Amino acid sequence: QTGMFTYDPGFLSTASCQSAITYIDGDKGELLYRGYPIEQLATNCDFLETCHLLLYGELPNTEEKGKFTKLVTNHTMVNEQMQFFLRGFRRDAHPMAIMTGLVGALSAFYHDSTDINNPEHRNISAIRLIAKMPTLVSMAYKYTIGQPYMYPRNDLSYAGNFLHMMFATPCEEYKVSPVLERALDRIFILHADHEQNASTSTVRLCGSSGTNPFAAIAAGVACLWGPAHGGANEAALNMLYDIQREGGVEKIGEFIKKVKDKNSSVKLMGFGHRVYKNYDPRAKLMQETCNEVLTELGLEKDPLFKLAKELEKIALEDEYFVSRKLYPNVDFYSGIVQRAIGIPVPLFTAIFALARTVGWIAQLNEMIGDPEYKIGRPRQLFTGSTKRDVQPLAKR
Ligand code: SDX
Repeated sequence: QTGMFTYDPGFLSTASCQSAITYIDGDKGELLYRGYPIEQLATNCDFLETCHLLLYGELPNTEEKGKFTKLVTNHTMVNEQMQFFLRGFRRDAHPMAIMTGLVGALSAFYHDSTDINNPEHRNISAIRLIAKMPTLVSMAYKYTIGQPYMYPRNDLSYAGNFLHMMFATPCEEYKVSPVLERALDRIFILHADHEQNASTSTVRLCGSSGTNPFAAIAAGVACLWGPAHGGANEAALNMLYDIQREGGVEKIGEFIKKVKDKNSSVKLMGFGHRVYKNYDPRAKLMQETCNEVLTELGLEKDPLFKLAKELEKIALEDEYFVSRKLYPNVDFYSGIVQRAIGIPVPLFTAIFALARTVGWIAQLNEMIGDPEYKIGRPRQLFTGSTKRDVQPLAKR
């Protein structure tokens, strides 16, 4: 019995760590950040308030929010040398390849915040990473389309500044749409943390060696890229494009047949979850955000959104998915809403990484802040050869 939650002993025997940050009830489809339901945070707070909550355990009051926002805003620029890292990449490099490099490269600049065992360093590197991720993601995007980088703007909100750096050019003013700004801010909140998922566990294990925070977060970026994890939003949208190309709603039955075929490796991307055996609460909120943005933009008849809702409906009535408790996860609708905002598909996972950075850091700092922590050292079940002697070459 820990506070309000009761763990079964079996759970703790498989748990990789104890944490007070995020709680998931996979059977109920419940997600709490520091005790607050994700539904309430997504509706009543903004992303920087959520960052404050994840990092320090409490939602900020007005004064704290002002201070935290100012601190993050004043760290959004990156060292001018960072742009020369990008020149080494091909223009068609995947943004996640660029981000894996850029985030790690930050450790080459911020020597006054690389000692992970120093609480001040941990805090300032957290601020720097949260502040600089939008700048780096937008630089990765501008580099691939051959446009000049846009500097951050201190007069814009966190999400507004990101949209501006992504879509403004020096040639003309870019007006940040409040609808897109709010939608993007909510997307950031929904992706901010998620307990001990693959990339967070990677960050914890990497950081447990005492490496600097930037290198540990770069490891998380690399892990998130995988299509079974953060790469699923890109894969889910490409899956919808494929079905649309094949004929749209009429072809859903054929696609589902392929997924159910034991010999095929085709998965319904954006469906299923290692923990949720019920509807991922973030998927519901993402669908609502999708609805709002598409309606606001007069795209409610968007064929891809219609296709996604039809696919979800059919899947949720199909024995194969029902028996395996496969429901839409956070990635199923996130691609459609990001596409409506104007974000190109290859950037989807980079935006997931941008939002998840605060969760990775909060989890890393929680672990390092515990005086009992040691370097991680998972063991194995050995299934190889028993001991034997080397034979001379002529006898092998
Ligand atoms: C994220 O861990 C986190 O918290 C991650 C995340 C976060 O915020 O950090 O929530 C973000 O990564 C969400 C997941 C995004 N990935 C996808 O949408 C990719 C598609 N999903 C699958 O690859 C899969 O559902 C996983 C990887 C997410 C989970 O895989 P598991 O652990 O194998 O799922 P399972 O044990 O529940 O599967 C049970 C059965 C298996 O079939 P059988 O062996 O019983 O015949 O269901 C099948 C699986 O093959 N299955 C699917 C499926 N997901 C599981 N079949 C078709 N389509 C799918 N999507």
